[in-house]
Amino acid sequence: MNGKQLAAEKAVEWIEDGMVVGLGTGSTAYWAIQAIGRKVAEGLSIRAVATSIPSEELARELNIPLIPWSEITSIDVTIDGADEVDGDYHLVKGGGGALLREKITAYASKCMIVIVDENKLVKQLGAFGLPVEVVPFAWEMTAKHLEKLGCKAIRRSHSDGGVFITDNGNYIMDCHFGSIQDAPELEQKLQHIPGIVEHGLFIGLADRVIIGYEHGTVKVRE
Ligand code: A5P
Repeated sequence: MNGKQLAAEKAVEWIEDGMVVGLGTGSTAYWAIQAIGRKVAEGLSIRAVATSIPSEELARELNIPLIPWSEITSIDVTIDGADEVDGDYHLVKGGGGALLREKITAYASKCMIVIVDENKLVKQLGAFGLPVEVVPFAWEMTAKHLEKLGCKAIRRSHSDGGVFITDNGNYIMDCHFGSIQDAPELEQKLQHIPGIVEHGLFIGLADRVIIGYEHGTVKVRE
């Protein structure tokens, strides 16, 4: 097992019968959804919500019961990956472009478990370009406001040059800060820029971080 899979396998130990479970997005969350699917096949009774269309499709393939958002009052536990995790459990997320649904899900969760391999641990956030979801209307103006915060903002595109469009019909600006000195302060500044739908800084949302190491061990940090 690689570090991502090890962390995912450990995280599903927190899932119990009757829970509403948030399914994350990305190559690490993939392993968690696989493990949940296996447990469901063995008799675990849960209901789930997915943070992206690909995760929803995977859940369907694995016969994980999905419920519509309109029927959810709260989520018991969400298991999701991250692009960067610092010592205060501040996260950068959105490398897969699913940050809006991921944040709605994390905010609604009693417990958010972050699963990563050791490569995602950082002293300071910001080496990974911060994904920011923006409405297409006047996106160039929004990009200028973002750059006033000290980053280079690049609209995300596919390898064939086509513009990346999120599950919600918006653009992603990847904001390259190099390093983020004060993540909570940057979060406050981002909240004030019109045109931003949501950003990939997750501050105070992670309850538990599970790290899988290539040499085979797993660490749980609460
Ligand atoms: C999806 O939008 C992201 O937030 C992912 O959770 C994050 O990019 C981690 O993805 P990997 O597990 O694929 O590295």
